[in-house]
Amino acid sequence: MSKIKLQLADSAQTSLESDALVLLEFEGTPRPEPGTVLTPYRESGEITGKSGEFTLLHNLSGYQARRVVIAGAGKRESFEVASLWKLAAAAARLLKGKGAKNIAIALEAGFDSGDHVSATVQAVIEGAWEPDTLKTNTDKDGSHTIDALTISVPATSPALEAALRAGQVIGEAANLTRDISVEPPNKLTPMALATHAQAMAKANGLSCEVLDQDRMRQLGMGALLGVAQGSAEPPALIVMEYKPAKPSGDTRLALIGKGVTFDTGGISIKPSEGMEKMKYDMCGAAAVIGAMQAIAQLKPSVTVLGIVPTVENMPGSKAQRPGDIVTSLSGKTIEILNTDAEGRLILCDAITYAKQLGCTHMVDAATLTGAIVVALGHNISGVFTNNDDLLGRWMSASKTAGEKMWHLPVEDEHRELLKTVYADIGNVGGRAGGASSAAAFLKDFVGDTPWIHVDIAGTAWLDDAKPYMAKGPTAIPLGTFVKLATQWK
Ligand code: BES
Ligand code: MN
Ligand code: ZN
Repeated sequence: MSKIKLQLADSAQTSLESDALVLLEFEGTPRPEPGTVLTPYRESGEITGKSGEFTLLHNLSGYQARRVVIAGAGKRESFEVASLWKLAAAAARLLKGKGAKNIAIALEAGFDSGDHVSATVQAVIEGAWEPDTLKTNTDKDGSHTIDALTISVPATSPALEAALRAGQVIGEAANLTRDISVEPPNKLTPMALATHAQAMAKANGLSCEVLDQDRMRQLGMGALLGVAQGSAEPPALIVMEYKPAKPSGDTRLALIGKGVTFDTGGISIKPSEGMEKMKYDMCGAAAVIGAMQAIAQLKPSVTVLGIVPTVENMPGSKAQRPGDIVTSLSGKTIEILNTDAEGRLILCDAITYAKQLGCTHMVDAATLTGAIVVALGHNISGVFTNNDDLLGRWMSASKTAGEKMWHLPVEDEHRELLKTVYADIGNVGGRAGGASSAAAFLKDFVGDTPWIHVDIAGTAWLDDAKPYMAKGPTAIPLGTFVKLATQWK
């Protein structure tokens, strides 16, 4: 996708030239308009200001724009940055479908902060994204694009210009994450994922090392390799690094993403119904790659490593069996009780490797358990931690990013569930508290290093298209990753 042309304007809304000018209308406070054109719309109840309502008017008198779009924004008191994000993304999707190429969105006083400007740009870039790049017929939603966006504010400033750029960087990074996530599993093999990471790193001046199977064997990553051995596709461990010009301290922050390019379950095979969705089991990895791009471009003062263990979980003739015992990089032995609990097996070796690389803080994102979907549904990601300070930073970053998260427990009792007779730890703990016992498994390898685990199994993929988002990958928790790094002190 070519880059959208962006600009901030403080000229009068009526003089903005565009294919469509979006104006916010709040419930109960009709916006003052030149003339009385809107009066019949309001009287007939066609324009109420309710959230989600869009009214398109062509050649509205007094306006230069070809179309004016009155966008319902809901109640003024409850209009948050996240509400603006949804409104702008929905407007972009609607107008793109109508062939508008050049759009303008007017932000009025009170809704014109840097966060508002960033969110608007990000929303339009992300809203315009479509998952149909591999369609060859003509009914592609992706054939329509938005080429230019003007955001009108009461007064421009260097801070708002910077916010405009930041919104663009994050929106483009989120779309990179989506492009990678939506690739089918026959194309997106572990090596193809590594190629994406290398291309991103090269384009953005980051270092990127890819450890292959032989190297991982030398190092002793038995847990990761055990998962990979059932597939003809070789695994990889990708390590990207961003080094600030002037680091503000000794922090080395690791972002770790689960990169299972397809999860059949292995010998503990999954039911065939819905299995095609298991191509999304690398969304954590794609969010890390996208976040590293945004971090490279926004240049925070903290060192950030992006670490992606990637495998395909297949039931080939060399596949590991339930009952196998593998030795992880940490030296701990693991009894494989269910080959479908493979995410934690690749993550534990990545976590140990991050510690060997001197990481002082770690965040992992993984489509790890069906249990988290049962617990929290599709809008809230589950957060687990061993450190309250890092939890505070993470939750505040998630709030700024508009990605909903909920802190859940990981306690000694969850670790108890993983005890086995034959090895140091088993890879499953039973149905009850499944998301917490999965977190307890990871925590056992983390030790004292401050760590966050985010279970995105419910939130990484949108099953039904929304007015503001296409069906498919959501890029969560890319926004929180980026805010965590840029807000680091
Ligand atoms: N990738 C899945 C997680 C998943 C399952 C996401 C279903 C969405 C829907 C993960 O590798 C997995 O299979 N987890 C198992 C773990 C179990 C065997 C302990 C699960 O949650 O069923
Ligand atoms: Mn699985
Ligand atoms: Zn999985």
